[in-house]
Amino acid sequence: MVQRLAVDAERRRDLLHREFVAVDISADKLTEFAASLEGHIDAEIVTVAGDITTQESVDAIVAAAGERIDALANVAGINDDFSPLHETTDAVWDCVLAVNVTGAFRLTRAVLPAMIAAGAGSIVNIASEAGLRGSASGNAYTTSKHAVIGMTKSAAFMYGPNGVRVNAVAPGGVATGIPFPPHVSEAGQARLQPFQASIPTLATAEQLAASITFLLSDDGVKLNGVVLPSDGGWSVQ
Ligand SMILES: NC(=O)c1ccc[n+]([C@@H]2O[C@H](COP(=O)([O-])OP(=O)(O)OC[C@H]3O[C@@H](n4cnc5c(N)ncnc54)[C@H](O)[C@@H]3O)[C@@H](O)[C@H]2O)c1
Repeated sequence: MVQRLAVDAERRRDLLHREFVAVDISADKLTEFAASLEGHIDAEIVTVAGDITTQESVDAIVAAAGERIDALANVAGINDDFSPLHETTDAVWDCVLAVNVTGAFRLTRAVLPAMIAAGAGSIVNIASEAGLRGSASGNAYTTSKHAVIGMTKSAAFMYGPNGVRVNAVAPGGVATGIPFPPHVSEAGQARLQPFQASIPTLATAEQLAASITFLLSDDGVKLNGVVLPSDGGWSVQ
């Protein structure tokens, strides 16, 4: 068993020996990220600053990846303003759905041909506790994360026969400093507060990454269409 776990750990480490394309809308964050990895991993990091909601950026990301694409993690996402539906503005709705759903959709659509041609691939979408229930965030974010789970399940079903696995991680709270819009709904926040307060623990970004790389790697070999809560047990309360 110990030997088996060592092999599994080695396989996950193998992910770190390949070429990566790191993407963010913020060029500064990307530069900081690439610098933080220098000397720590034996892999080439190509950075692409772009907005995943635009086809132009998606084309640039896929071009940077080259012909072989083993894996895609759809991580970029934004918060809503905790507003209940009747308070949600068009701006909040459009922006949240564009980044959280349309961006992941466009990137996934762009990488699938290479994965199908190779007969192998692994995609992990980052959903949220708000993709599992209605009491974790505002209406737009909750809708977007339920959509991410629907997109995951449909793609898992459609591309399983092609050797492509599509799974989702549903994080609880993660200490990343994900920003909130400048104005947060008072009514929404008050309604959500008791449920958000029951979160067992905040995860670190590294702890969440462990769930993502597990599903992304060959360790997830038989997992397809799974929604993995990575939340310290919040979703079972
Ligand atoms: N932090 C949490 O508590 C938490 C909880 C549940 C789910 N999540 C999800 O985890 C994922 C990562 O969130 P995080 O906490 O690391 O947030 P974060 O704000 O730290 O990171 C998200 C990154 O996405 C980038 N981004 C935003 N819009 C973009 C766009 N249009 N194109 C390209 N990049 C864009 C941002 O610049 C940022 O660097 C998101 O999908 C989020 O919804 C986070």
